[in-house]
Amino acid sequence: MNEFFPEVSRIEFEGKDSINPLAFKYYEADRVVGGKTMEEHLRFAVAYWHTFKSQGGDPFGSGTFQRAWNVGSPMEVAEKTMAANFEFVTKLGVPYYCFHDRDMAPEGETFQESISNLETMVAKAKEHQAETGVKLLWGTANLFSHPRFMHGAASNPDPHVVACCALQVRHAIAATKELGGENYVFWGGREGYETLLNTDMKREREQIAAFFHMCVDYARRIGFTGQFLIEPKPKEPTKHQYDFDAATVLSFLREFDLLDHFKLNVEANHATLAGHDFAHDLAVAADAGKLGSIDANTGDLLLGWDTDQFPTNVYDVTRAMLVVLGAGGLGSGGLNFDAKVRRGSIDGVDLFHAHIGGMDVFARGLLAAQAIIDDGRIDEFRAQRYAGWDTGFGKSMLDGNETLESLEAKALELGEPKRVSGRQEMLENILGNLI
Ligand code: GLC
Ligand code: MN
Ligand code: MN
Repeated sequence: MNEFFPEVSRIEFEGKDSINPLAFKYYEADRVVGGKTMEEHLRFAVAYWHTFKSQGGDPFGSGTFQRAWNVGSPMEVAEKTMAANFEFVTKLGVPYYCFHDRDMAPEGETFQESISNLETMVAKAKEHQAETGVKLLWGTANLFSHPRFMHGAASNPDPHVVACCALQVRHAIAATKELGGENYVFWGGREGYETLLNTDMKREREQIAAFFHMCVDYARRIGFTGQFLIEPKPKEPTKHQYDFDAATVLSFLREFDLLDHFKLNVEANHATLAGHDFAHDLAVAADAGKLGSIDANTGDLLLGWDTDQFPTNVYDVTRAMLVVLGAGGLGSGGLNFDAKVRRGSIDGVDLFHAHIGGMDVFARGLLAAQAIIDDGRIDEFRAQRYAGWDTGFGKSMLDGNETLESLEAKALELGEPKRVSGRQEMLENILGNLI
């Protein structure tokens, strides 16, 4: 338990005046905020892929990280990587981790070998979980890295490839169940296209829906009770990703009769790539009762791609936490740091700095959001703004009891409406002052 990060011990809360870089300044796991502890609100998770599998490569250059766990045969590497994961998560003091099948166990020479690699590693993960108390927030299958998925996973023009997806997802769901995972995520990395000249979009979307119905059916048959989540993303790796944003995914689920079985895993950087802000996509999901979980990260406004950076912006995070608290919390979901340290941050300790910063920024966002709710001025302003819909002809319109003619009569009776300020700047000041 002290093998890969010997220079770091358990990260403690020291308060905002601490200058110890390896301490929390705001995240205090058992501090009660609005009736729940910070740990219960935030439900942090560490992402296996970025934190332990990333080598620091980018499209212009190879990996820069030299990880002590990345030495030996593929299965030796898998075991050491897993030990590093549980040591890290325990020292950081977060309750959860998340993984893809191929993060945890290497792809074998044959399908059978891949299956048995995963089963071996799942058995080991189960032991680590029992020993450390660390839990699984979600599992998933990597249906995007292998060359066989170059033309799509479930959306592939070749049903043979889709059968390979079925094999992989079946075992990934079973692994998630075995490890007590509270959710299972589908991120459609290759579910999209480049050109309609070779793509039948209608068929591809129908194929994905048929695949999801089989997944729902399988989960039910094996008794997996975790929540299925779809993670929207507008582009990357394909030009047109089918799961563009929260609204698009909700409409897909409705169209194919899947709405009852799925919620959304909203990632901050994917929302911004879709031209929304993070709070917007969270609100779209929450308004539909479908806010399942969050991939907590951020992009860079000056770079148009998915940089998956650790969150640092208290203002954005506060607005996100307002949506989360307004929705009554994350339920079985959590805040998964789907984020990677920059290529030049090569030391193991940099992984701690990154996560400590992300946790502190969410703790501050939580405190600020709760302060804004307790203050009440913003909620009160918004409620007042729509008060006309609570009574009179506003209400009767919503109840379906008005017609264009009856409303025309109202307009003629009342004349020109009074102009009212939206007070945006005043509200921004209230929010700013409460952060
Ligand atoms: C990939 C994506 C990430 C997603 C994860 C789960 O790493 O980049 O956004 O959450 O897979 O499939
Ligand atoms: Mn993600
Ligand atoms: Mn991303």
